[in-house]
Amino acid sequence: MLQQLEELKISALQELESINTAKELESWRVRYLGKKSNLTKVLRSLATLPLEERKAIGASANEVRVDLEDSLRQKEQALREAELALSAQEERIDITLPGRSFPQGRLHPITQTLHEICDIFVSMGFEVVEGPEVEWDYYNFEALNIYQEHPARDTMSTSWVDFETDSGQRPMLLRTHTTSISARIIETRRPPIRVVVPGKVYRYEASDATHTPMFYQIDGLAVDEGITMANLRGTLYEFARRFFGEDRKVRFRCDYFPFVEPGAEMAIECLSCGGKGCRLCGNSGWIEILGAGMTHPQVLQRGGIDPKVYTSFAFGMGIDRLPMLRYGINDIRLFYGSDLRFLRQF
Ligand code: DAH
Repeated sequence: MLQQLEELKISALQELESINTAKELESWRVRYLGKKSNLTKVLRSLATLPLEERKAIGASANEVRVDLEDSLRQKEQALREAELALSAQEERIDITLPGRSFPQGRLHPITQTLHEICDIFVSMGFEVVEGPEVEWDYYNFEALNIYQEHPARDTMSTSWVDFETDSGQRPMLLRTHTTSISARIIETRRPPIRVVVPGKVYRYEASDATHTPMFYQIDGLAVDEGITMANLRGTLYEFARRFFGEDRKVRFRCDYFPFVEPGAEMAIECLSCGGKGCRLCGNSGWIEILGAGMTHPQVLQRGGIDPKVYTSFAFGMGIDRLPMLRYGINDIRLFYGSDLRFLRQF
C-alpha cells in the first residue's frame, strides 16, 4: 500500500510537470485529488484497516495529498503568470519601430518655377507683390495706354465679368496679364519702386498643346531716378544667366507694347536644338521668353509719377513655358490635368 502511494505521487507529479493549460490542470486535479481518485479511495478505506496500518498508511496518504495540493497551487500560479506574460507581450509597444509614413505632397512644378524666379529677383532687391485676378478694365488696359478702340485689345481675348454699369459698360474682367498690377503699383507707390508680380492670368482661348485659358506670368517694374535701358538689360541678362545657366545665349530685339517706349523682347537660345533650329523654336534657333521696355511716360504720369524726374523699366514673362523648355514637356495641359503620374516627377 505504501509502495502504491509512493508510485501514485511520482506519476502524479510527473504528469503535472507537462501540463500547460488550465483545462489540463483541472482534469489532473479530478484524476488525482477528486472524489473518485485513488488517493481519496485510500483515505476512505482507512477506517477498515487495523490500527497500526491505519496510522502508517493514513499519515503517508495525507502527506501525499498535501504534497499534491501544494503542487497544484504552484502550477496554477505558474500558469496564470505565463498567461499574463503572454498578453503583456502581445500588447507591448515597440518604440524603436519606425513610424508609418504619410504620403507627402509637393509643390506644383509651376509653383516651384515661380519660387525660383522670385528668389532670383528678390536677391537683386525686388519685392514680391500680388494683386487681384478680377480686374477693372482701367488697370488692365486704359492705364497701360490700351484705350477702348486700341487694336492691342484684340490680341488679348478677354474674359469679361458679367457685370454692367448703369451706362451699359462692362468694366470688369479676369486680368489678361500681370501688368495690370504694375499699373496699380504705379498709382499707389512712390519711387524708388522695385517689384515683381507673379500670378495667374486669363485669356478667352481654347486649350491646345501650347495654350490654356489660364496660365501664369510674372511682371517686373522698377521706377527710380536715372533708370535706363542698360539697367533693364543688365537685370534681365543676370536673370537669364542665373535661371538658364552661364552659357545660354540671350537675344534682345525691338518689339512693341503700348505701355513701353522703347519696347523689346528677349529670347534665349533654343534649349532643344542649341540654336541650330528645330520644330520647338520654329527653326529660328531662338525662343522668346519675355516682353520688356522703358515704361511709357504717359503711364507714369497717369499714376501720378513725374516722368521728367523718374524713369522706369518693365518686363513681363510667361512662366509655363519655362519648365516646359527645361524638362522637354510638349503639352502645357499636363500642368493642369492633376495626373499624379506626371506631377510626381517634379
Ligand atoms: N503684358 C505683356 C503680355 O502679356 C507682357 C509685357 C511686355 C509686360 C512688356 C511688360 C512689358 O511689363 O514691359 O503680353
